[in-house]
Amino acid sequence: MNNDNELRFDGRVAIITGAGGGLGRAYALLLAARGASVIVNDLGGGMHGEGAGRSAADRVVEEITAAGGRAVASYDSVEDGGRIVQTALDAFGRVDILVNNAGILRDASFHKMTEEDWEKIYRVHLYGGFKVTHAVWPHLRDQGYGRVIMTSSAAGLYGNFGQANYGSAKLGLLGLAHSLAVEGQKRNVLVNTIAPLAGSRLTETILPPDMVAALKPEYVAPLVAYLCHESSTATGQLFEVGAGWAARVRWQRGRGVFLPLNATLTPEAVAEQWAAVQSFDDPAYPQTPLDSFAPVLENLQNDRQGAGEKGSEGADAVSPASQAAKGASTADGLLAAVGYEFRPTTTTYDEGDLSLYALSVGAAADPLDATELPFVYELSSGGFRALPTFGVTFPFSLLWQITDVPGLRFNPALLLHGEQYLELKRPLPTSATVTNTARIAHLYDKGSGALVLLDVHTADEMGEEIAYNRVSLFIRGLGGFGGQRGPASGAPALPDRAPDVVHRQQTNANQALLYRLSSGDHNPLHADPAFAAAGGFDRPILHGLCTFGFAGRAVLRHFADNDPARFKSIGARFTRHVFPGETLVTEMWAVGGLILFQCRVAERDEIVLSNGVVELW
Ligand code: NAI
Repeated sequence: MNNDNELRFDGRVAIITGAGGGLGRAYALLLAARGASVIVNDLGGGMHGEGAGRSAADRVVEEITAAGGRAVASYDSVEDGGRIVQTALDAFGRVDILVNNAGILRDASFHKMTEEDWEKIYRVHLYGGFKVTHAVWPHLRDQGYGRVIMTSSAAGLYGNFGQANYGSAKLGLLGLAHSLAVEGQKRNVLVNTIAPLAGSRLTETILPPDMVAALKPEYVAPLVAYLCHESSTATGQLFEVGAGWAARVRWQRGRGVFLPLNATLTPEAVAEQWAAVQSFDDPAYPQTPLDSFAPVLENLQNDRQGAGEKGSEGADAVSPASQAAKGASTADGLLAAVGYEFRPTTTTYDEGDLSLYALSVGAAADPLDATELPFVYELSSGGFRALPTFGVTFPFSLLWQITDVPGLRFNPALLLHGEQYLELKRPLPTSATVTNTARIAHLYDKGSGALVLLDVHTADEMGEEIAYNRVSLFIRGLGGFGGQRGPASGAPALPDRAPDVVHRQQTNANQALLYRLSSGDHNPLHADPAFAAAGGFDRPILHGLCTFGFAGRAVLRHFADNDPARFKSIGARFTRHVFPGETLVTEMWAVGGLILFQCRVAERDEIVLSNGVVELW
């Protein structure tokens, strides 16, 4: 009798390759006992890839049917993956699960290994895994459901004497799984890899008999079954499993060292930093190519800023010495970051920059409506004006220095822009050379991450402050250091009534490309589709501050008559991403002298900016 919590596979069809014995047999018996219809595939040859026969697969089919289950044999080699999948379709009309398990060994130390040893192993493991998966893939994609397991090995993960052929093929399967996990995720086709340890004919020549008997394949099968169940959401993961022990395995990367690119890079500089290159202190656990690129991009950024691009002054490339001086992200180190002053930067802007900014946040989209012309047209009859939210671009000339704060060590890919607050001391000049100074005002421990509050003051040529920004940066993974949690959000609650004003505006498909030019935020996440895909997005996403600019414009238009002199401050929290081309709906309420707002994406009905507050003079 089924109990309510039992993980069942009724209606599911599973292909298990190499299921005539060892681990594959254990998977087939377990899934069949839980209701799956099973294709028991096995070529039935010897453990070195010689011969073929039907009895191995037939025996397991008999075991399953004798126990009341449903199973059909397939005697093809995994090199003929299409035929195995066809057997499943002919017998059961569908496929939901594939466990790539078939395997042989041809061990030889490398200097004695023949090309045939290499070729046979490659063909059964990696090519065979490819062939069956490639044949089943379109069916899984089309039905929007699939579970695939690859079988790797400790020999591939760590290397083993006499197994250069086998280890290469086994690690190749892990690489295959990683890419397929990325490609399959959106269609609910999940792909994981196991490195098992079990007694079987493959291990009986290397393990003592009592170990072979003790390491039962049945101890591995439950993890495989769980990963194949519809309730499992794991994908792209690797597990070592054997004798009832199961653990996830992942890549670990040291903090590394940033060698300065604006000086001559030499092997001696590498030698000098060798201990730091090798160190695993303060490690990261990269999971995507984006995580992998992040430090590389960071060093390019260090170099660009060091070379004085974007008009910033006083910035140096991160030298190995200053890098070495940085502490790890210990609690003391983190708290010591509070009060850290960034090197000041000086930037210049004029009416062209202001116009580009205004266009990039959707101003003057209607050519017959002249009300926003003063923000984009310097000869406008009403006189040219700066959009107040242009003030949020000032911090960008120094924000990159966050990676240079002693004690604050983190992977930039884990940095999120949480909130932004901008206060204008007076309307922004229509052209100016401004100086930005910044310091870390607070650092709070939010458990899952650290919240860094950065205060940025911007002054004009006379040294008079024109704008103040508070940038809230959330660094995932840096929490739990025992610091204070910080105050709860002070944003007033939205009134319990329909918004007083709703402003809808569709963004352009190239909005992010425009915004990056006007804002100085050149993160490739907003431009490069491959980079966005690595970050888990279908396409490049819009900058949160671009949405912020759209919302600020809506408030300025509906509540301040497009007069920047009435605009005192604006703050909001970034809650979700926006794709360029989507429609932004800004909902606004006038409450006790404040304008409260939130912004949603019409197409997905998701709030993308919350806690919005504008203060008017
Ligand atoms: P096994 O030899 O009992 O099972 C492998 C099965 O694959 C055999 O029944 C064999 O006839 C079948 N097979 C071989 N070539 C085939 C082909 N071209 N087409 C279809 N079927 C084919 O060995 P075991 O230990 O159960 O291995 C299962 C998988 O686990 C293999 O991929 C192996 O490399 C892997 N593995 C096993 C470990 C262990 O400790 N047993 C350790 C690490 C990996």
